[in-house]
Amino acid sequence: MKSQYLKTGIESINGRRDFLKLAGYGALGLIAGGYLPMFSPSAYGLTQQVSLNTTETVFKPDLDLTLVPQAEEVAILPGSPTRVWRYHATVNQGDSNRVVEIPESYLGPIINVRQGEKIRIRFKNDIPEKSIIHWHGLHVPAIMDGHPRYAVAQGRSYLYEFTVTNRAGTYWYHPHPHGRTGFQVYGGLAGLFLVSDEEELGAGLPENEFDIPLVIQDRTFDAHNQLVYMSRNRMARMTGFLGDRILVNGKPDFTLPVSTTAYRLRLLNGSNSRIYRLAWQDGRPLTIIATDGGLLEKPVQRQFAFLAPGERMELWADFSDNPVGYETGLISLPFDGAGTGRGRMMGTDAGLPLGAGFSVFKLKVSRKVNRSIELPQKLSEVTPVDLLNTAGLGHLREFYLTMGHMQWSINGRTFQMEDVTEDEIVKLGSKEIWEFNNTGGGMMRMMNMPHPIHLHGKQFRVVGRSGVRHDGYVDEGWKDTVLLMPGERVRILTEFSDYPGLFLYHCHNLEHEDMGMMRNYFVQK
Ligand code: C2O
Ligand code: CU
Ligand code: CU
Repeated sequence: MKSQYLKTGIESINGRRDFLKLAGYGALGLIAGGYLPMFSPSAYGLTQQVSLNTTETVFKPDLDLTLVPQAEEVAILPGSPTRVWRYHATVNQGDSNRVVEIPESYLGPIINVRQGEKIRIRFKNDIPEKSIIHWHGLHVPAIMDGHPRYAVAQGRSYLYEFTVTNRAGTYWYHPHPHGRTGFQVYGGLAGLFLVSDEEELGAGLPENEFDIPLVIQDRTFDAHNQLVYMSRNRMARMTGFLGDRILVNGKPDFTLPVSTTAYRLRLLNGSNSRIYRLAWQDGRPLTIIATDGGLLEKPVQRQFAFLAPGERMELWADFSDNPVGYETGLISLPFDGAGTGRGRMMGTDAGLPLGAGFSVFKLKVSRKVNRSIELPQKLSEVTPVDLLNTAGLGHLREFYLTMGHMQWSINGRTFQMEDVTEDEIVKLGSKEIWEFNNTGGGMMRMMNMPHPIHLHGKQFRVVGRSGVRHDGYVDEGWKDTVLLMPGERVRILTEFSDYPGLFLYHCHNLEHEDMGMMRNYFVQK
């Protein structure tokens, strides 16, 4: 059991078997799921792409890394170290300062790149189950995107080579094997991938020690300081994993010491299923300067803001008016996590239910500096949504977030490795509006849940939200993940301008994703 981060292996026996069955995606698996593909994947040339990518090309990388997930022990709580899985990086070529380890954390190193750079990453799996890395938010060719069909066994490798075309922003990487993403991310496998560009460097934002990434996650530890995942209770899985301790950058009871000046705080919700409703403890408004796909056009202010799994949000936080010794912090305000008191209904085993209020991290002004920096009123070029011409875009694709047979699904379908239906095929070069609908067409209304919907391969714009009104969304800017509370519909606009092939869209509640609330879409040439 040494190589497993879990003491008991809990659901790993059964879960693993289910996964292997699915990964075979033979006729049996498809029929057992009750879904037959409307189109055979080979008709779209999908199958020949399934080959392990291991050969280097003539590609000349600016940065060449080896990235290896490994079992190890880290000191998280006082007493015994915690067994975790952690990404380790070695820089083979390029500037080694681009890869920054977070000491005493299970989190993977922060990878820093510039827009336009060529990156080669040699993924070598060293954990005792299949895995593959996905670059969340990055716009890369299908074969570089970490689709679960590319997952490799322990000892095997996968080679990534891509040019960074994204605008500056806080992106991240994590495993994506089907059925095991929640388990592997929970075990520690996640890291930040920060992109910078000219526009950002010219924006006048705090840099270096004043630019702080903060990865927010929740975990549960047993009496021996070991991570506890979730019980096999189907009800608990329907909710998703909820830990009873909040960790920031892999550390519990996190306190951030700051100086009397302005900071750029880059927040990532790296939790499996917990949604945060963030606010400052001292009542100052949140000043938001960026979302998933980078800087907003101009800063926006909110008293509080939701941050769902997978989402990023960057804050401008200025402490120049606060005395040394001043203390505040980021909190998560209570909210109705279900609309229906699901905490009780679902029999979750979490000590800290979804929608509970708590402190996320504390912040203490510990040093006086004379360094004043003004909040820029213009941050970047982002076309306002109301200026986007969305008329005449043809038919609307609708995706219903539904539940049936104790299983979350999208339009009544669950994930099958290469399954694509007609309404999941888009034309290369097309611009489309997709509507996600969480108004609960399912049989059991009382089990409606929030779902953060994520698209692989593309950043999109949120062009509409309707239904039950909730406050606290930051829909501005470029997004790759959008939260839908129960009763809501959201419309997104995206352009499939390049990169044909098979990409995923799914709920970023990782337990929902693992149970199949994920589908392929196919960009056809
Ligand atoms: Cu971070 Cu498929 O997702
Ligand atoms: Cu993604
Ligand atoms: Cu979901």
